[in-house]
Amino acid sequence: MHASSRSISTNQSGPHEDLARRVARALAHPLRKPVVEHTRAAFESASAWLATRRLAARFPDQAVIGVDRSESRLGREHGPLPDNALLVRADLVDFWRLVLADGWRPARHYLLYPNPYPKAAHLKLRWQGHPILPVILALGGRLELRSNWRLYVEEFALAVTQATGLPAAVQPHEPQDEFLTPFEQKYHASGQTLWKLVVELPHAPGLVPGGGGA
Ligand SMILES: C[S@@+](CC[C@H](N)C(=O)[O-])C[C@H]1O[C@@H](n2cnc3c(N)ncnc32)[C@H](O)[C@@H]1O
Repeated sequence: MHASSRSISTNQSGPHEDLARRVARALAHPLRKPVVEHTRAAFESASAWLATRRLAARFPDQAVIGVDRSESRLGREHGPLPDNALLVRADLVDFWRLVLADGWRPARHYLLYPNPYPKAAHLKLRWQGHPILPVILALGGRLELRSNWRLYVEEFALAVTQATGLPAAVQPHEPQDEFLTPFEQKYHASGQTLWKLVVELPHAPGLVPGGGGA
């Protein structure tokens, strides 16, 4: 290969005399520059990739599909995923119905830090108050919900029991060796308690009124 890059020319004869002061300043004062939007979007896509990758590594014999409707969370500039992992941009309200209609039977199903919609008037936007709930439950498998809002998980547990008759208990979630998602890491770093619910569900398309076909 022919290379012709020029060597560096500088007016410094050694380390800059101001270096120690600059380092001391960086150690003493927080950086206030706001994160620009395209960098935030790139970080979010890298984070989604990382979470899916971690699950794919944890379950090497399973196909792992990570779904989010946000494009910025799913960009692909960060490199390939393992062969058993796939990121999909989709609205879960539709995606879940297609999955059920096609007869898939997920072994595990994670709902990781869904939007809380904390205002009482927004119950219908939380998964437990949304008309899609029967489809989520009908898919079956080991369903795990994680949230930093205890009431969200409590409501979901009540809804699971009402719909299936199965007991569902809320428990604290203590991240062990690694964080599964960026929001998990963020909430934990902020000192918030994390909550989860795990329930083994039968595949039960009969839960869905009208048969659940998409
Ligand atoms: C609080 S963030 C959590 C993101 C990620 N699961 C995590 O734990 O880091 C909630 C995510 O849910 C996604 N979301 C909300 N409603 C959705 C829907 N109907 N279909 C797909 N994704 C949805 C949003 O785009 C957002 O990325």
